[in-house]
Amino acid sequence: MGPYRLHMKTKTAPYAATKLSDYTPGALDDAVTMLLCAVDSEAAALEDESEWKAFRDRWMARKNGILTQINDLWLKPAPRDAKREVGQRVNEMRSRVEDTVEQAAERCRQSASQAHLASDWIDISLPGIRRPLGAEHPVIKTMNEIVSIFRNLGYSVEEGPEIETDYYNFESLNFPPNHPARDTQDTLFIGQQDSKPLRDRLLLRTHTSPVQIRTMEKLKPPIRIVIPGKVYRKDPPDASHSPMFHQIEGLAVDYHIKFGDLKGTLDHFIKALLGSTVKTRFRPSFFPFTEPSAEMMVSCFICGGSGWRAADPCRPCKQSGWIEILGCGMVDPNVFEFVKQNGYDPAQVTGFAFGMGVDRLALLKYGVDDIQLFFQGDVRFLKQFG
Ligand code: DAH
Repeated sequence: MGPYRLHMKTKTAPYAATKLSDYTPGALDDAVTMLLCAVDSEAAALEDESEWKAFRDRWMARKNGILTQINDLWLKPAPRDAKREVGQRVNEMRSRVEDTVEQAAERCRQSASQAHLASDWIDISLPGIRRPLGAEHPVIKTMNEIVSIFRNLGYSVEEGPEIETDYYNFESLNFPPNHPARDTQDTLFIGQQDSKPLRDRLLLRTHTSPVQIRTMEKLKPPIRIVIPGKVYRKDPPDASHSPMFHQIEGLAVDYHIKFGDLKGTLDHFIKALLGSTVKTRFRPSFFPFTEPSAEMMVSCFICGGSGWRAADPCRPCKQSGWIEILGCGMVDPNVFEFVKQNGYDPAQVTGFAFGMGVDRLALLKYGVDDIQLFFQGDVRFLKQFG
């Protein structure tokens, strides 16, 4: 009960059961009356549920509760001719005590809820509690936009582990051991694994491409998937590099997929993301897991492809009018060899794949000039995207 309760209860010595020396009806009456008075006045003094529990146990506990004591102190030693009378009174008394305990419980519950109501008033003149909504992080926002464009094309979303084996990150993607293409990936390896065979050694995945293989092991063709996720490389942080960044990978495998499908899909995608006025261009490239491979360029959506912003040279496209957006290509048959037994016979299926850096797209899209701002968690920066 609240601290503002003013009335006080005078406490008397608590009731204690004692042996009866006199078993005459008058003496029994007195003893019973004393006991019932005591239980009533103790019940009246209860203030809350925890007091009530102690009270209940004090009287009714099987082991050494007052009723049990009365059995031992009054009934058991009663002279034979008084036993019946004492037994009857003890029984009556027991049910009186039980009723009293039960009624006291009800009262304690009621007064607790009244006290709660009394103390739980609302001052409607106070300002409300503001629960600020978080803002979607610009990288995640960009990622969600990209994923939803592909979802609309019927792609589903797959994910994979950030700690990956050499097998999935490299070997099954047609990077043979000691192949120079591995060096371009600036891999962060997990230490002390020299005793393991190379393919089992763990590393932080350098791209989302390993999830291509993981998914083809799991799902039979045809498949159309996008794979958003974090990737890691041994790049010292600066305005355009971060040792952790985000990629979205795509993979479509079916029985008649051609390079034209790749071009049409990616052209549609980038127009949906940046607006229908951008143009695309593909130029040859190399990735071990695609053949042929290409890079997709998009006409600079900052300067409109002119290379100039008013009188200033356009920095994002380095005045070229084009920005490189992603790597892509037709899935190399050597990659299908690793998942051949799950229906990916390179003589039967073809596919295209692509992979893009989300952070760089978000930098360009929002005109942010330092990738580090994305990962410092400064609310003054993040708030601007709310
Ligand atoms: N995994 C490549 C990288 O991180 C990007 C990439 C290029 C992914 C071509 C692809 C692809 O799926 O076909 O540099």
